Amino acid sequence: METGNWKNKLYFGDNLDILREHVASETVDLIYLDPPFNSNATYNVLFQEKGGEKSAAQITAFEDTWHWSMESEYAYQEVVKEGPRKLADLLQALRAFLGQNDMMAYLTMMAQRMVELRRVLKLTGSIYLHCDPTASHYLKMLMDATFGAKQFLNEIIWHYRKWPSGKFTFQRNHDILLFYSRSQKNERVFNQLYMERAPSTLKRFGTAKIISGHDETGRRIPSQMATEDSTGVRQDDVWDIGRVPPIKQLFPTEKPEALLERIIAASSNDGGLVLDPFCGCGTTVIVAERLKRRWIGIDITHLAISLMRHRLHDTFGPDLSPYEVIGDPKDLSSARALTEENRYQFEWWALGLVDARPAQDKRKGADRGVDGYINFFDDNSGKAKTVVVQVKSGHINAAYVRDLKGVLEREKSPIGILITLEEPTKPMLQEAAAGGFYEPESFPGHQYPRIQILTIKELLEGKEAQYPRMAPTATFKRAQRRRVSTEDQQKFTI
Ligand SMILES: C[S@@+](CC[C@H](N)C(=O)[O-])C[C@H]1O[C@@H](n2cnc3c(N)ncnc32)[C@H](O)[C@@H]1O
Repeated sequence: METGNWKNKLYFGDNLDILREHVASETVDLIYLDPPFNSNATYNVLFQEKGGEKSAAQITAFEDTWHWSMESEYAYQEVVKEGPRKLADLLQALRAFLGQNDMMAYLTMMAQRMVELRRVLKLTGSIYLHCDPTASHYLKMLMDATFGAKQFLNEIIWHYRKWPSGKFTFQRNHDILLFYSRSQKNERVFNQLYMERAPSTLKRFGTAKIISGHDETGRRIPSQMATEDSTGVRQDDVWDIGRVPPIKQLFPTEKPEALLERIIAASSNDGGLVLDPFCGCGTTVIVAERLKRRWIGIDITHLAISLMRHRLHDTFGPDLSPYEVIGDPKDLSSARALTEENRYQFEWWALGLVDARPAQDKRKGADRGVDGYINFFDDNSGKAKTVVVQVKSGHINAAYVRDLKGVLEREKSPIGILITLEEPTKPMLQEAAAGGFYEPESFPGHQYPRIQILTIKELLEGKEAQYPRMAPTATFKRAQRRRVSTEDQQKFTI
């Protein structure tokens, strides 16, 4: 892989701003985008004229957050005034047809982003827009207006199976990928992929190579097969790939790696730069990394950024190429600003500071005192133990520490961490110290405070949570011995 000084990048933020501020023109080889769209919403809901407020309660980090608002109005005016002529004309026509509803807000936001995506794409580059039949017909018009109708290459149908739903219609079992190139000329990167021959072809020709109109025995081959230099046939535009089963999903809209493998293998080469501006839990960056491409991922939630970081480290371990996370708060004042902006975002970001995983989507229900967790092994039973993590952005007192102790008992967790934006009070530190230490049987002499209070300031300065980091296997002797620091001993014996 051609790396030079390049570092792969995960950006936290709105992709429109990130693209404008950080991604240079004509630098990207392949774009895959899977924008959020609440396709479970019925057409009636989607096309209803809205006052604005009503649907805010339904919003989660994963669903469509785009509703007609002042922001859509500004975006609309920007595209109409400054965007490419055809796109401006199309947007006005769409507004006359659709009015001011969620669909129009969605298309306006997408139009703005498409202009930027075209700008960053190399002349040899390709773009795949992932959508479903709810909006694919409108999105195709936007793509035609932005990239040019002649640059349209394929409408790929991703077919999958899922549990039956909805009566009086055919089961909806496909998504759509709109594949466009940046330039009109046939100079785009495209690596032909092959699929297995149909049973009838196999019966007639077996797996013999079919070259230049004749098979290896000299028999003439039907013309549509004459150019193949493979034992397969050219990959077609209907892809049967299983969905990630809900039970295995990291993220509700997670796409299968096999889908991204096809796209990245076909439309980029080793070392090529792949961009996913709506990257969710990072399927694109995972596959790009595996196929030795360079990559840029952008997402507007800290939850996604945190999930991606874990997924990258879990999947590639020490072989992971260098990458940087850009847009995360780096100091106390930006951490405070994040809390004011969005408490959930702050919480997801703070969990990332101790490498904890978010416990659940908090907007969906009560958290029962667990914001995040860290699994660790300290014996060879293969059974993980759990560090419970709580995050507090407001004023706190000793009652919070007592509450954490209760949660540890309930969850049978040996260690609890309280991350706080505000400095802990003396009674809090005393309450924490009274919790004592966890001493794993397999690590005699190693002590880990049962209740650890970590401030955001300390974490930003590099302080770490304390828990056993590896099972006492053969590597134990080489493992770093982690003892309670003098500073902590003082703190916990107040
Ligand atoms: C449908 S999901 C993508 C799922 C992804 N393909 C995967 O396999 O995990 C869409 C993502 O876009 C993100 N998103 C929504 N609006 C965004 C914006 N303006 N800028 C960046 N990311 C955004 C959401 O947070 C969500 O994670």
